[in-house]
Amino acid sequence: MFKKKIITSSPEETKKLGEKIAQVFYPGLVVALFGPLGSGKTCLTQGICSGLGVKDFVVSPSFVLINEYQGKYKVYHIDLFRLEKLSEIINLGYEEYFYGDGVCIVEWAEKASALLPEKRIDIHLKILSENEREIRIEEF
Ligand SMILES: Nc1ncnc2c1ncn2[C@@H]1O[C@H](COP(=O)(O)OP(=O)(O)O)[C@@H](O)[C@H]1O
Ligand SMILES: [Mg+2]
Repeated sequence: MFKKKIITSSPEETKKLGEKIAQVFYPGLVVALFGPLGSGKTCLTQGICSGLGVKDFVVSPSFVLINEYQGKYKVYHIDLFRLEKLSEIINLGYEEYFYGDGVCIVEWAEKASALLPEKRIDIHLKILSENEREIRIEEF
């Protein structure tokens, strides 16, 4: 299992980290992001999308659960913050995203942990101080 722990000191550094790790991402990969509000999940996602060549301005999907972008691959950005019942994502046809042809990034992955594919990358983000975030990457 691949494991790495990084501490970033600014949103820009977190975005840069996202751009860097995205270089080894491939279609079909699920990236599960864990961590509280403000820990940098969306910021890291913006970096990943930029690293995958997405030109759109990436924001968290707020009323829909899923945003779809096109970079060098298709990118699905799922934010489960507002998910109340697992059935909501089951009804959305999550298999298409979790086992699909794009890179799938999931914020608040803990809310759908039972549905996450076994083969994935988990990234845990922790708030250390106002500008410091601990980012733990684990690949299974
Ligand atoms: N090192 C850092 N990495 C990422 N975000 C940071 C960092 N330091 C401060 N921030 C701030 O923390 C917030 C992270 O927000 P966001 O990425 O939306 O978090 P989440 O999606 O986890 O709720 C932003 O306001 C950002 O400016
Ligand atoms: Mg977010």
